[in-house]
Amino acid sequence: MAEQSLNNGAAGAAGNEPPSHHGGLENLDHEYSYEIEDFDGVVPADLQGTFFRNGPGRQRIGGTKYGHWFDGDGMLCAFTFRNGRVHFKNAYVRTPKYLEETAAQAIKYRGFGTQVPGGMWSNLGKTPANPANTNTIYHAGKLFALNEGGHPWEVKPDDLSTVGEYNFAGALQKGQVFSAHGRVHPGTGEYINFGAGMSGITLRGPQPCLFIYRVDAAGKMIKKGHIDLPHFPFCHDFVITERYAVFFIGSITFSSMGSVLLGRKTISDVVQYDPAINMKVHVVALDSLEEVRSFETGHGAIVHFGNAYEHNNTVIVDAMYQDGFEANNSLNDVFHPQSRFNGGVYKRYRLNMQDGSISEAQVSPTEAEFPTFNTSLTGRRSTVCYTACSVDNGANGFFNGFQRVEEDGDCTLVTLPPGHYGSEPLFAPALHSKAEDDGYLLEVVYNAYTHRSELQVYRADDVTDQVCRLPLQHHLPHQFHGYFTPEVFC
Ligand SMILES: [Fe+2]
Repeated sequence: MAEQSLNNGAAGAAGNEPPSHHGGLENLDHEYSYEIEDFDGVVPADLQGTFFRNGPGRQRIGGTKYGHWFDGDGMLCAFTFRNGRVHFKNAYVRTPKYLEETAAQAIKYRGFGTQVPGGMWSNLGKTPANPANTNTIYHAGKLFALNEGGHPWEVKPDDLSTVGEYNFAGALQKGQVFSAHGRVHPGTGEYINFGAGMSGITLRGPQPCLFIYRVDAAGKMIKKGHIDLPHFPFCHDFVITERYAVFFIGSITFSSMGSVLLGRKTISDVVQYDPAINMKVHVVALDSLEEVRSFETGHGAIVHFGNAYEHNNTVIVDAMYQDGFEANNSLNDVFHPQSRFNGGVYKRYRLNMQDGSISEAQVSPTEAEFPTFNTSLTGRRSTVCYTACSVDNGANGFFNGFQRVEEDGDCTLVTLPPGHYGSEPLFAPALHSKAEDDGYLLEVVYNAYTHRSELQVYRADDVTDQVCRLPLQHHLPHQFHGYFTPEVFC
């Protein structure tokens, strides 16, 4: 494994503890639009397009902390690359939660881990708000802000102004949620997505399920299906191959949704990791949206996946494996000095579609999360994956590095200086790219010494080669996911 440590101008005094990542969770209440000046290096001429990112832009309202990282209001930002120049802008998604809480400067909506002040009676029967804060995608001419607890929110890609909640001409019904991690099939251009829900009422009560959706290349929802499940699933991400959608339902369960409905507890309160529950894998045919195979392996949980593909009778899936969900305790109080954000183990699963067997192997040794790859190869064999990493650089506790992982497990690990905290590294193809890794890796870094963020650009084929650093005039609250389009929006 090749390793590289970067000195990006960290100004920590020798012997002092590096500042923690917590400053990067403070609010960014202001909305900006400006051209980035005074950058280091050269912005590549063949890097053209728009890099959108999404994440909670604020964790406090009126001085009160939200009860979970997932409950901060969605704030989109966009870095637009054009002819060697870069423009930055950011804007909050104008959901009812954002608008009403901004006006009141108080918590008015329940969240995944947040209660409305006032106890049980203030929360009875109220469902968590959709903060539109997790991911973003530009598909069929529309930019969406996504959160798995609701419908997509449409946002204008040029100025990030909010258009409104989107339901695909009514095809996405009330109560049918739409995950933040859809995948675009490169062969058909279809946008495949899913959402946890209820397919009906049985004698035993509501029937939990996963809804699966196919949106064609023109943006029309053309097919819906569902697979029934024994329990309400914790399912954040999935993979597709040429012919299949693959869901891993792990050992994370919800102990008592009744107490949530009654307003006594939040969903976060009732999330639990149960090692007695094995992980089950459901393979669904994309054409029929019906389950064609299932697999079972040991306990575990997978929040994020890399790529997947079919080879002969085997489906091969890259995944970030966790053997617990302690992270949820940190996410409940992101400002707690001991809060820590865990990566997982980069594993590769092989699902034998013929005999129903499943095997797994660890791919890389470093604690990893937020895997990305060249999405033009979604569902097809790709040979390179990039991940954020948690490494011990003297300031462990967040993502402080990233890596390029080859198909054979060979890795190039880049460690950020102590006090610098990274994010999901996203691959952006170069103009007219010819090879899988012909392009750049986009990494937003929070500098805890200066309380500023910057976008760092690396060559994707050699991630130790930093091409340029684009400093912002402020910090960017730690975000979750992003999307790059070669279309230039400014
Ligand atoms: Fe995610």
